[in-house]
Amino acid sequence: MNEPALIPRPMAVEPGSGSLPVSDRTAVLADAPSRTAAALLAGLLPPAGGGLRPVGSARPQPAPNTITLVTDGARRDLGDEGYELAITPQYATVTGREPRGVAWGVQTVRQLLAPSAAAAQVTTLPALTIRDRPRFAWRGLHLDVARHFFPVAFIERLLDLMALYKLNTFHWHLTDDQGWRLEIRSRPRLTEIGSRRAATPLPHDRNQSDGTPYHGHYSQEDVRNVVAYAAARGITVVPEIELPGHSLAALASYPQLGCRGAGYETAASWGIKREVLCAGRESTFTFLEEVLTEVLELFPSRFIHVGGDECPKQSWRECRHCQARRAAEGLRDEDELQSWFIRRIGAWLAARGRRLVGWDEILEGGLAPGATVMSWRGIDGGVAAAAAGHDVVMTPNTHCYFDYYQSRDTAAEPPAIGGCLPLEQVYDFDPVPRAIGSARGRHVLGVQGNIWTEYIPTPAQVEYMAFPRALALAEVGWTPAPRRSAAHFRDRLQRHRPVLDHLGVRYRPWPAH
Ligand code: ACM
Ligand code: ZN
Repeated sequence: MNEPALIPRPMAVEPGSGSLPVSDRTAVLADAPSRTAAALLAGLLPPAGGGLRPVGSARPQPAPNTITLVTDGARRDLGDEGYELAITPQYATVTGREPRGVAWGVQTVRQLLAPSAAAAQVTTLPALTIRDRPRFAWRGLHLDVARHFFPVAFIERLLDLMALYKLNTFHWHLTDDQGWRLEIRSRPRLTEIGSRRAATPLPHDRNQSDGTPYHGHYSQEDVRNVVAYAAARGITVVPEIELPGHSLAALASYPQLGCRGAGYETAASWGIKREVLCAGRESTFTFLEEVLTEVLELFPSRFIHVGGDECPKQSWRECRHCQARRAAEGLRDEDELQSWFIRRIGAWLAARGRRLVGWDEILEGGLAPGATVMSWRGIDGGVAAAAAGHDVVMTPNTHCYFDYYQSRDTAAEPPAIGGCLPLEQVYDFDPVPRAIGSARGRHVLGVQGNIWTEYIPTPAQVEYMAFPRALALAEVGWTPAPRRSAAHFRDRLQRHRPVLDHLGVRYRPWPAH
């Protein structure tokens, strides 16, 4: 038997003989902790709805014509997210130590079913045994909803596709110069004013404007739905509230948050903006604490992303409030002032049981205690942070920026922000480069693909840029290094294509080799 075309490749696959027929008479049995995963699985069986028979907290016994989902606390070998999937011609069982592991086992079943389940009344699962667990705990995908806004229905579709590939962290970039997208009840102007901009640059010429007002935001109700939808699939939503730079939409809403104190507009052009949150005035911190208080109510994530990238310091140099702060705190320069700013927010989050994560600029001027670094300008930030004993998420623009072109033949592609990141290069990424060394390797929490959307105005375009590169990233994040092979991946990807087609994913077609 060919190894099934599963992505990411499991840790161990043992072929069996024969196959299990799956029909509308196949029942899903589940113990209480596995009920959520069971409901997902039942929805996948042909025809949708299968015979879900949740079985209280008692231990369900495998029986003919069933798929049984159970948690077993004694299965330490499976870790937090691992599972065992055993398929015989009579029945199938998915075992996890934790419900999250059971949920990933269900996604493996889903990949095995998907291509044939479309029309068939009866399909089959191949007999086999899979033992599987991830290499990294953070397997992320980021989406910028500030440059372009994406509706909840699409966010949920993306989450569902992430789950299919066992990506477990959705980094939601909710605020930026070009739009504030999150309802904050104590600060209504953020969405009344900050969610709107006068116009958007044209995709083929960023120096020209389309002249059309643009807006969009998520209500707190929307956010709760998204967070619950993600949680049901084993995905954590990490919100990002950008500070102190990339904050023009907040400044347009509340001008007193800026050094100048007046005259701001939500950006209608791309690029780094010189106007940033004032680090001197105390009202900036009152504002941020009010915003973050609501953020913590909405997002159970342990990690809260506060941006920290690309913050020009000129307005701080010219501001008497910022200079007074710098002097009062004994800070040498504006890099140290930014570091002080991030530390203050980090301490506030830590006091509430959360952990700060920020882009690698948070290293400049000294890293806040306990801060986690997202290494994006290559891997150097990650190497430095790990060397200093900090946790790191690897998302270097050399391997993880899905807004970059996918081919050197850029004329044949829709306009993109630049760069060149073909599928193979994503696959080749090693999240623990030699410069980090095995002793510090445990500080690498994982990897993440980033989707900045200046040049990505529609859901179809997000899918085109994310797929199939997100599949390569998923394997980098999940599969043990010795099990990875570019040739093996390419063979499975080819055979996996019907799964993407079945789900209507608008991927970039890849060349056959
Ligand atoms: C970034 O790409 N500015 C984090
Ligand atoms: Zn200032």
